[in-house]
Amino acid sequence: MKIKAGIVGGAGYTAGELIRILLHHEFVELGGIVSSSNAGNPVHQVHDDLVGDTDLVFAAELAGDEDVVFLCLGHGNSKAWLEKNTLPDTTHVIDLSNDFRLEADAEFADREFVYGLPELNKGRIQQAQSIANPGCFATAIQLALLPLAQAGKLTEDVHVSAITGSTGAGQSLSETVHFSWRTNNVSIYKPFTHQHLGEIGESLAQLQSQPGGEIYFVPYRGNFARGIFASVYTPSDLTQDEARELYQKFYADAPFTTVSDKEIHLKQVVNTNKCLLHVQKLGKQLLITSVIDNLVKGASGQAVQNMNLLFGLPETTGLNLKSVLF
Ligand SMILES: NC(=O)c1ccc[n+]([C@@H]2O[C@H](COP(=O)([O-])OP(=O)(O)OC[C@H]3O[C@@H](n4cnc5c(N)ncnc54)[C@H](OP(=O)(O)O)[C@@H]3O)[C@@H](O)[C@H]2O)c1
Repeated sequence: MKIKAGIVGGAGYTAGELIRILLHHEFVELGGIVSSSNAGNPVHQVHDDLVGDTDLVFAAELAGDEDVVFLCLGHGNSKAWLEKNTLPDTTHVIDLSNDFRLEADAEFADREFVYGLPELNKGRIQQAQSIANPGCFATAIQLALLPLAQAGKLTEDVHVSAITGSTGAGQSLSETVHFSWRTNNVSIYKPFTHQHLGEIGESLAQLQSQPGGEIYFVPYRGNFARGIFASVYTPSDLTQDEARELYQKFYADAPFTTVSDKEIHLKQVVNTNKCLLHVQKLGKQLLITSVIDNLVKGASGQAVQNMNLLFGLPETTGLNLKSVLF
């Protein structure tokens, strides 16, 4: 038996990445790939790396018999889509937007969304009907902080700088994804106010009821297409060895999150569902670096990881992807 999967928002970046992964997933049959802009057009006309891989055509509507539907829509549009389109209770929904990530937004009609960070909520994901897939920055930053929260060691302010590639902003054009603006350039946006701070705060509070201090997060736009590199630091009474052991134990059963002995860089994870972490103690500060691919572990790969958990498959099914180092 195959899982019948549908996708809404088919022409976008996260949908393109999802189609790529699901076409090669041995237990999935792709059903309707809905597109408001491209219904009737071949999928490979938009996602043109798929020429020769699939003859699927974008649809105007789902087939109606999907076991799982991925919503790859912008913020606010997932909720609007679910208000207009009724799915059977038996159809799982995995939403990639931020519409249902916060506890206050987790209930919608008769659906309850579970926050889909497997390293935090694996048991709940396995029992869930609907999943709110985490944000990309939120994934990289939470994975850098969860072990400290579980040990009750978030006692002071945390400073975060994280740089993302241009695909993080989606496929629609804007000044800051224009080649002339982006190339040879770096800039910040939404300092200390980025929307992912909400979900990060809720996940940390799940492990440490009263984390001390604030999180000061400065997001950067990078001059590359894919990936997030986050550096996170906070004062700590742990030694470097104690901290590394804490992280290694926390992620011992997490197939995609690895604590590296060596310093890490972006190309180790681009095109993979991995998160690599490196932990070092410098003076009083514990410095954790974290790298992911924003479209894979930060979006569509993690969505497939959640689907695997929902359907009782090994978590890594269809996700053994290789990075391109050189
Ligand atoms: N890009 C990332 O790295 C990333 C990472 C994590 C989470 N996310 C989240 O994932 C979601 C999708 O992101 P994305 O990067 O794939 O965005 P995107 O490239 O802009 O794609 C979104 C798609 O939604 C459809 N759409 C656009 N306007 C719409 C409207 N008004 N009503 C209904 N559908 C509309 C379009 O597809 P059709 O023309 O085919 O209908 C569009 O291609 C967003 O909520 C984003 O925040 C993105």
